[in-house]
Amino acid sequence: MIEIKKLSKQADNKLILRGIDLSIKKGETVAILGPNGAGKSTLLKVLATLIKPTSGIVKINGLNLKKDHIEIKKGLGYLPHSSLLYDHYSPLENLVFFGNIYGVKNVEERATKLVKDVGLSFFLNEPVKNFSRGMIQRIAIARAIIHEPEVLLLDEPHTGLDQGAITILNNVILSMKDRGATTLMVTHDFKQAAEICDRIIIVKNGKIVDDFKMERHNLGYVSEKYELQVEGVS
Ligand SMILES: Nc1ncnc2c1ncn2[C@@H]1O[C@H](COP(=O)(O)OP(=O)(O)OP(=O)(O)O)[C@@H](O)[C@H]1O
Ligand SMILES: [Mg+2]
Repeated sequence: MIEIKKLSKQADNKLILRGIDLSIKKGETVAILGPNGAGKSTLLKVLATLIKPTSGIVKINGLNLKKDHIEIKKGLGYLPHSSLLYDHYSPLENLVFFGNIYGVKNVEERATKLVKDVGLSFFLNEPVKNFSRGMIQRIAIARAIIHEPEVLLLDEPHTGLDQGAITILNNVILSMKDRGATTLMVTHDFKQAAEICDRIIIVKNGKIVDDFKMERHNLGYVSEKYELQVEGVS
């Protein structure tokens, strides 16, 4: 589903990504862990077609990122650090706006259902500018999946969410997985990574330093691996 070969990204004479090789199968839910500045968000931005790689090959669903980025974008759902929402619009207006960009059918119905799914029905028509951080993040999650993307790219999606919203988000990710979607999630939250992901990748200094499956593993295992690779504790 996602094939990355020898991917590098340089900016301002700094090599941010240094030769990433990664292959992700359809339906996999993968967490990307790593210290601040490791290059995790940069990797996600390259996959989201927001920035161009300096070198290397990226293929998503058989399409080449260099040539077919418009086609690729249609099948992607991207949740960045910033919400991308319009402040003066309500959740309904925001979701209808983004849904229309992707040509979503019965868009008002779908938008209303998603606002309900993220627990904000009561605020359907309130401007987003009055929302708390967690409420904005809930709507941002709904925005990222309005077009039922095949690939979900999430950058620290659990940040700012309360326990109820964490459960909602995890259910969104798991139900997308049930429908065959592939998820790549950058996170500092090992607990969530251990709970919902089938595979963990650790990035350090722009390189993948570990990559393992989560079958039968637990939070303690993730922490051990991370300490070994990132903090150099053995
Ligand atoms: N456009 C840019 N120009 C120059 N340097 C950049 C640019 N974008 C990112 N960087 C640098 O690349 C490095 C990796 O940044 P990135 O945002 O990918 O890290 P990250 O792993 O997501 O970190 P965090 O956990 O703090 O979110 C950082 O040193 C950052 O300063
Ligand atoms: Mg980041």
